[in-house]
Amino acid sequence: MDSPTPGRFDDAPFIRACRGLEVARVPVWFMRQAGRSLPEYRAARGPGSILDAIAQPELVAELTRQPVDRYGTDAAIFFSDIVVPVAAIGFGVDVAPGTGPVVAEPFRSKDDLHRLRPLEPELDTPYVVEAVGILAGSLSVPLIGFAGGPFTVASYLIEGGPSKNFARVKALMHEEPAVWHELMERLVDLALASLRSQLDAGAAAVQLFDSWAGILTPHHYEALVLPATRRLFAELAQSHPDVPTILFGVGTGELLALMATAGSTVVGVDWRVPLDQARRRVGPDLAVQGNLDPALCLGSWEVARAETREVLALAGTRPGHIFNLGHGVLPETDPAILEQVVELVHAEGRAGVAAS
Ligand code: CP3
Repeated sequence: MDSPTPGRFDDAPFIRACRGLEVARVPVWFMRQAGRSLPEYRAARGPGSILDAIAQPELVAELTRQPVDRYGTDAAIFFSDIVVPVAAIGFGVDVAPGTGPVVAEPFRSKDDLHRLRPLEPELDTPYVVEAVGILAGSLSVPLIGFAGGPFTVASYLIEGGPSKNFARVKALMHEEPAVWHELMERLVDLALASLRSQLDAGAAAVQLFDSWAGILTPHHYEALVLPATRRLFAELAQSHPDVPTILFGVGTGELLALMATAGSTVVGVDWRVPLDQARRRVGPDLAVQGNLDPALCLGSWEVARAETREVLALAGTRPGHIFNLGHGVLPETDPAILEQVVELVHAEGRAGVAAS
């Protein structure tokens, strides 16, 4: 496989914005930009579990490219899922259409820790390494690799599927702190191995999706999730210095200042927090990513346009803004709206745009 050139995308607006540098135009991509909102996705994906699709490198490359080709986004997000490493080591996870990850035998106690052995990416997820390699050698924009954050992956393993109140996770966190701690460390090791393999194969940046961490109080996030998250970013920075890293979660308004200490270079912000406030909470050294409400892309262009302009205005003119939605693209979104959002951000975004 061709070895990708490190630093090939150093001048790309997405990479520069992640580093807080001036850009020629505000970069934009969308979480979940691949997927059911695109007719070309529905046509190519075929039936069966998404985990089957993820194991086919040529298909993954195609699904990753589709939104870049259609929307002209400034980055591609690797087509995969946050449960791929745990599924690959045999924990017994599938992804049910319309539901999300489901676990046949959920994590219940100390006795389940042995089910989380280390990931050997070349052996356990060779299809990830291969697909990233194909993309890194052919994409014209940076590829973002990703992994699930430790709280979010733990929540699926413990609850056995999606959860509303996260009662079982919270019980384990508080009643079995030593088991919880070991679980966090193992999940961080899995994420780290996966992220490193994606970077080695040519991803230009990575995002850690700790999507559901916002369900926690700041104190509990700080004591029970942040230490492991910090280790992840610290170790990643050692093996892959200068690689832009993004930490994202939903409903994290009260956690943003803490998330800013995790060691990522960018903090992703959901739609609930105005970006000027998010910038204050995150501090001057980190870039922010976000945060158009995905639900406001479901209706008329007039509404989406006004809200896009509002996000741009709140982001201000200081460098270090990557435009995105505040969470993933909803499946019923009309792609034409997102196409126009990209155009508008490129035409009117001002954060860090070098004076010409
Ligand atoms: O463009 C992209 O972002 C594609 C790559 C991607 C997927 N999942 C593909 C996928 C990414 C980055 C993810 C991350 C992911 N997976 C997260 C974090 C992001 C977030 O939304 O907060 C989470 C929580 C998961 C777990 C998961 N996988 C859920 C909740 C679902 C949705 C279930 C459904 O069917 O509505 C999945 C399935 C999934 N992962 C789909 C896609 C495109 C659904 C479509 C399909 O089955 O073809």
